[in-house]
Amino acid sequence: MPKIYHVVATARNRVIGKDNKLPWHFSEDLKYFKKLTLGSTVIMGRKTFESIGKPLPGRANFVLSRQSCHSELSAQSAELRRIPDPRSFASLRMTEASVEIFNSIGNAIGAVRTPNAYIIGGAEIYKDTLRYVDGIYLTRIDADYEGDAFYPEVPDWFEEVEVQGLREKDPKIDVVFYERKENASPQEKTGTDETATA
Ligand SMILES: NC(=O)c1ccc[n+]([C@@H]2O[C@H](COP(=O)([O-])OP(=O)(O)OC[C@H]3O[C@@H](n4cnc5c(N)ncnc54)[C@H](OP(=O)(O)O)[C@@H]3O)[C@@H](O)[C@H]2O)c1
Repeated sequence: MPKIYHVVATARNRVIGKDNKLPWHFSEDLKYFKKLTLGSTVIMGRKTFESIGKPLPGRANFVLSRQSCHSELSAQSAELRRIPDPRSFASLRMTEASVEIFNSIGNAIGAVRTPNAYIIGGAEIYKDTLRYVDGIYLTRIDADYEGDAFYPEVPDWFEEVEVQGLREKDPKIDVVFYERKENASPQEKTGTDETATA
C-alpha cells in the first residue's frame, strides 16, 4: 500500500485559495513542494488542476472529476498519453508528466503505483480525504489572507511530529509534519469498486 499524504499551504486564518488561485507566491514553499513530490504521484481536484494550468512534470498527475468526459481534461489527457508508456511511471523522465482522470477518490488512490502519493488540493479534496491519509505536510504562513477556500482543522487523530523552518523574514513560514496516531481509528482503505475513467 502506498503512503498517502496531504501537502497544503495555509494562512493563519486557514485560507488556502482565492478565486481558484493561490493568494501568495513564496519561492521557498514552491521549492519545498517540488522536492517533496518529485518522482511521486500527485492527486488533485479538477479545479486545482485547472488553476495550475498544466501537469506537474516529473510526477504522475491524477485528477479527480465526476464528469466522465470533461472535455478539457480529456483533451490534455489524450495529448499526454503520447508518452511511450504512461502506465509505467518509471518510464517517465523528470521533465515529462502524465495525467490520468479518476471519478472517485478510492479509485485514484487504488491506482497509485509510486511508494508515496501526495494529495495536493484543493479545499473539497482535502476535506474529503483526511480519513485516508497517513500524514499531513502543512506549510504555515504566519499571516492572514482573504480567501474563499479553506483547509479544515487538523483532526485530533493526527499528532505534530516535526517542524521545519522555511523562511525567517515576514511572513515567517514553517512546515509542520503531522502523523496519524498509532491508536487512531482505523484508516479508511480504498477499493476499486467504481469505474475509473483513467
Ligand atoms: N494553498 C494550497 O496548498 C492549495 C493547494 C491546492 C489548491 N488550492 C486552492 O484551492 C482552491 C480550489 O479548491 P476547490 O475546493 O474549489 O476545488 P478542488 O478541490 O481543486 O476541485 C474540486 C473538483 O474536484 C472534483 N471532485 C471533488 N470531489 C470528487 C470526488 N469525490 N470524486 C471525483 N471528483 C471529485 C470535482 O470536479 P468536477 O466539477 O469536474 O466534477 C470538483 O468540482 C483554489 O483556490 C486553489 O488555488 C490551494
